[in-house]
Amino acid sequence: MSYTTTPRDFRDKDAAYRGLVRELGALLEGEPDAIANAANTAALLFDALPDINWAGVYFLKGGELVVGPFQGKPACVRIALGRGACGTAAARRETLIVDDVHSFPGHIVCDSASRSEIVVPLVSGARLLGVLDIDSPRPGRFDAADARGLESLAARLVAAIAQLPDAGSE
Ligand code: SME
Repeated sequence: MSYTTTPRDFRDKDAAYRGLVRELGALLEGEPDAIANAANTAALLFDALPDINWAGVYFLKGGELVVGPFQGKPACVRIALGRGACGTAAARRETLIVDDVHSFPGHIVCDSASRSEIVVPLVSGARLLGVLDIDSPRPGRFDAADARGLESLAARLVAAIAQLPDAGSE
């Protein structure tokens, strides 16, 4: 497998995310290891997305979210369902966009540079596997096109890890 960073044009976000879904598909193709696949997903997103300072995955383990592969500053390890942006999105099983983390009740600070955040639940059928979390130093960084694009990427990651026993215990 080889991977070369290519400059990406995010003026058309839907087109840019379609390209990223293709790239992610090539990265995950034929690889059954959940940690490896989450790690390459985090690395691809951190490399590709403009104006972000953290990208990674939390896996649901034993009823709480536990940090998995990511790029960025060291992060809070365990997050209860319903707590913070990640726990809220996981509990609702809905993508959550936080335009200003300072005004989000219960937001958990990992990197004080973070000003906005998007969290996409990783769901396979009725099973919650975890969340994909992206932080930005720019307020209001994420919009509906980011949500659509990241949901497509999350679906590709879920397809690669959903059958695996270590991809979340519930
Ligand atoms: N801010 C998140 C915690 C995870 S970090 O941003 C990496 C939250 O409120 O759940």
